[in-house]
Amino acid sequence: MSSLLVTGISELWTVDPSRGPDGILTDAAVVLDGEQVAWVGARADAPDADDRLDVGGRAVLPGWVDSHTHLVFAGDRSSEFDARMAGRPYAAGGIGVTVEATRATSECTLTRLVVERVREAEAGGTTTLETKTGYGLDVDGEVAAARLAAGLVETGVLDTVTFLGAHLVPAEASSADDYVDLVCGPMLEAVRPYVQWADVFCESGAFTVEQSRRVLQACAAAGLGLRVHGNQLGESGGVALAVELGAASVDHCNHLSDNDVDALASSDTVATLLPACDLSTRAPLAPARRLVDAGATIALASNCNPGTSFTSSMAFCVATAVLQQRLSLDEAITAGTLGGAKALRRDVESGESAALPVGSIAVGARADLHVLDAPAAIHLAYRPGMPLSWATIRRGRLVHH
Ligand code: NIG
Repeated sequence: MSSLLVTGISELWTVDPSRGPDGILTDAAVVLDGEQVAWVGARADAPDADDRLDVGGRAVLPGWVDSHTHLVFAGDRSSEFDARMAGRPYAAGGIGVTVEATRATSECTLTRLVVERVREAEAGGTTTLETKTGYGLDVDGEVAAARLAAGLVETGVLDTVTFLGAHLVPAEASSADDYVDLVCGPMLEAVRPYVQWADVFCESGAFTVEQSRRVLQACAAAGLGLRVHGNQLGESGGVALAVELGAASVDHCNHLSDNDVDALASSDTVATLLPACDLSTRAPLAPARRLVDAGATIALASNCNPGTSFTSSMAFCVATAVLQQRLSLDEAITAGTLGGAKALRRDVESGESAALPVGSIAVGARADLHVLDAPAAIHLAYRPGMPLSWATIRRGRLVHH
């Protein structure tokens, strides 16, 4: 692969932790060499490259790192959404509707649906995507979803896969505890070759703290990294459990006690906030300001799924975090890039993954750039809802323009 010199950058948001507060460069240039960033600095000092791209005075950010999605699904839940807007509260039970539709859909159709969703995300500047199983909820269905997603990781479409067999107790299960036995035993064994992470929906109406602990401990023993859906509908104990077990991330975090905030602030567990989901379920927005002020690391993710957040727009999440959750632009962009990378242990500093780091524009990181159709990144919040993604470069290739 050849090298590419990117110039004409009005603002370069490196989000490189080694640059600290000096991470936003003006009149800057970047050189990409194949799949990696090879050079970052002032335009005047830039080395030459095989090819050139002049972005015409636009702002450049790292591609978004969307660390929480549920892309492997079929069907539509717009009538559930409609009922919610008329006052019905969100309940985990709606997941069963998607399980039925997904089980009834062929692997080929599901693959096409997932790829279409990935392309939509790329068109909005997303360059790293985690996705989950969780709409199969039997051994065959969970393996099919995990294998499909793993195939898309292998071909470079997706980045990492999470096993979410413990999303809901399916209707046919004789009891929740029997289902947990299945998840921790034959289901885990069957999906293990295809997944890197395990997750559990620790919430009233889904899995108790004790059931969640069993699932997570079995998955950790099988070598999987841990993530938790916690404290979405109430103070479920999911956050405390995630911190106790050293999970990489606990996601949702709408209802937090002071102890939860303190526990997050003194741990390496990232609090992943999902503002599009909060709006779509009319839940209280997660307390982003409180978490950042306490010293917790936060990520922003889309939670793209058919029930609670049918959008993959990270720009929408960032705009909401600034406009409604009182984050600064810098905090919100960092949460949607480096924060997501930390939640996936793929950031430039963690060194935990064999794959190239993401979420920053730094020498050695993956060549993932998002060029905004705007001279400054503040337009993300100043012009919310506008199509501001001018180009997306993923792994050194132009995937959207
Ligand atoms: O992250 N909360 C649990 N899981 C998804 C919702 C899935 C669904 O309702 O289909 C979420 O919001």
